[in-house]
Amino acid sequence: MAVETAPTATTTGPKLRRIRVTVNGAAHDVDVEPRTLLVHFLRENLGMTGTHIGCDTTSCGACTVLLNGRAVKSCTLFAVQTDQSSIATVEGLEKDGKLHPIQEGFHQEHGLQCGFCTPGMMMTAVGFLATNPAPTELQIREAISGNLCRCTGYVNIVKSIDYAARKMRETAEGKA
Ligand code: FES
Ligand code: FES
Repeated sequence: MAVETAPTATTTGPKLRRIRVTVNGAAHDVDVEPRTLLVHFLRENLGMTGTHIGCDTTSCGACTVLLNGRAVKSCTLFAVQTDQSSIATVEGLEKDGKLHPIQEGFHQEHGLQCGFCTPGMMMTAVGFLATNPAPTELQIREAISGNLCRCTGYVNIVKSIDYAARKMRETAEGKA
């Protein structure tokens, strides 16, 4: 894999560190400044702008991605902390032109309005459903308590996640 360099890096600029991360299954070797936040790395170095920035206080969850399978707020980590890690972003949910159940759920249950919070909501939900495939409504609400939505009132988001949980269980049962 070719080495990618931050667009802002210059030979006289800050010292860069080489990291290797796998993002949505693809390996990237990238030179980054140690101060670069993971969310900026994803958006600016890798051009994956599906991960949003909604605050500067670790409050909104719009930046949520999966780091080695666990939901994290990518504005609270430095990219260098994720060296040798596996990251999943919203861009990796769709596979072979087929929506992920969580995407299908948000579509079917009208889980979004402006959509700004949606990538973070979906990544939080995917991480959560991997640990709890049959959640109660209360457990879903607790799982997304770190993600803010200013549009929907959350009711349809909860329904969307419940839809995804049911769909994923049905698929798993069909394979058994
Ligand atoms: S941008 Fe990360 S929590 Fe708001
Ligand atoms: S759909 Fe607009 S912030 Fe959630």
